[in-house]
This record gives sequence, structure tokens and C-alpha cells, in this order.
Amino acid sequence: MPQAVKVAKHGELKPGEAKAVEVNEVPVALFYVNGNYYAVADSCCHRGGPLSEGTVDGLVVSCPWHGWEFDLTTGTCVTNPSARQPVFEVKVEGDDVLVVLPD
Ligand code: FES
Repeated sequence: MPQAVKVAKHGELKPGEAKAVEVNEVPVALFYVNGNYYAVADSCCHRGGPLSEGTVDGLVVSCPWHGWEFDLTTGTCVTNPSARQPVFEVKVEGDDVLVVLPD
């Protein structure tokens, strides 16, 4: 069974903001962009940079360490298409923002 874990209150993040959260000990970067939430693994697949501290431009986050860019919707690396970040489903239930981890 996938698990949904509360990570934030709706309204806590301003548009374009991100937050580092932990979901069952997995570091996750939660983004709020254009009225939607996106969750990707926080540790960059290049060398582990914190994507939650990256710069967001549209639906793309740029890693603060070496600038690799990732599509928030798919996790695809724009600058290195052979690389990919895990992405997670996000749900809003009432005021709660939940990240769903797969089994
Ligand atoms: S650690 Fe993210 S681009 Fe290098």
C-alpha cells in the first residue's frame, strides 16, 4: 500500500517556494508552483545537491551545486537527459499537503 505522509499545510509555501521535508526518512523537496505541488527527491542524482535550495524557473528547478536542471513534473534532467530524479505524487486533503511514497 502506498503511504501518504503529511509534509506541509496548504498556504505555508508561497508561489515558487520550496521546502525540504522527510518522508519515511527519504529527503524530499516539495515545490509550490502555479497553484500545484510537486515533490522530487531532494538529493540531486549528480552529486547530492539539495534541490529544495535550487532556483525555480517555471516548472524547472536548477540544482544549486552544479546547475543541472530538472523538470518538476517528470524528474527528467533537462541538461543531462540520461539522468532523472525520482518524483512523487502529492495530494491536498483539506489543509494538509501529503506526499505519497510508492511501496
Ligand atoms: S549535485 Fe546537482 S548538479 Fe551536481
